[in-house]
Order: sequence, then structure tokens, then C-alpha cells
Amino acid sequence: MSYEIYKTLHFLGIAMLMLSLGGFAGLALSGQGPTESSRKLMLSTHGTSLIIILVAGFGMHAKAGIGGFPLWLILKLLVWVVFGGLTVLFRKRPESAKALWWIMPVLVAFAGWLALAKPF
Ligand code: HEM
Repeated sequence: MSYEIYKTLHFLGIAMLMLSLGGFAGLALSGQGPTESSRKLMLSTHGTSLIIILVAGFGMHAKAGIGGFPLWLILKLLVWVVFGGLTVLFRKRPESAKALWWIMPVLVAFAGWLALAKPF
């Protein structure tokens, strides 16, 4: 697969990630829990998105000839892990949804900037 396909898949994964976490955030903000079917849909979208982001990320890593694990990539992996754990936070601490509503897009922008600027 080409670098461009990997990057497109990377963006698809990010969109799915935001869709699923946005759903959890919206429900938490409205003080309602998800129904069984919507919880399954959002959780499976969340899980699938993380796999797509990771596979496409390493695909680009290989295609772009980025050697080893520079700090910017390690930080992106950390952002990925944080996004992976947010469903637990929404379940255990629904009151955190108000802050996460703003923090999540900033985290996406930060991960994008890390890949774009490769600052360290
Ligand atoms: C949820 C977390 C992540 C978000 C939101 C994210 C976001 C982005 C964005 C927006 C870009 C495009 C930047 C540009 O226009 O050049 C990008 C590129 C990239 N990302 Fe991610 N990313 C995430 C996780 C990861 C992970 C886990 C990996 C590693 C396996 C990764 C590896 C890469 C690579 C290698 C590039 C391309 C860098 C280049 O071409 O020089 N990303 N990412």
C-alpha cells in the first residue's frame, strides 16, 4: 500500500475515533448512559479506529523511511494510549466529559503537529 493510502486510512481512523468518543461525551454531558446497542456500536468503532490509526501510522513510518522511534513518534503513541483509555474515563467519571469535550480535539491537533513538525 502506498504512503498516501496509509495517510488516508490514518485520517479515517482519527475520524472514527472522534465519532465514537464524541458519542460517549455527548451522552455523558446529557446525563444519560448509552443503550446496550449504542454502547456496542461506539465501543467497536473506538476499538477499530485505534487499530486503523496504529497500522496506518506504522505503514507511514515504514514508507516515509522514518528510522527508529524519534521522541515525536513516542509522544504520538502516548496520545494513542490516552485515547484508548478514554472510554473507561467516560464510564467511571462522566463528569469529566465537559473538559474532555475540548481536550480531545486539542490532543488530535497536537498529534498532527508532532507528525508535521517533528520537533524532537
Ligand atoms: C490518535 C492518535 C493519533 C492522531 C490523532 C494522529 C494524527 C496524525 C495526523 C493529523 C497526521 C498528518 C500530519 C501531516 O499532515 O503530515 C499524522 C501523520 C503521521 N502519524 Fe499519526 N496520529 C495518531 C497516532 C499515531 C500513531 C499511534 C502512530 C505510530 C504508529 C502515528 C504515526 C504517524 C506517522 C508516521 C505520520 C506521518 C509522518 C510523516 O509523513 O512524516 N500516528 N498523524
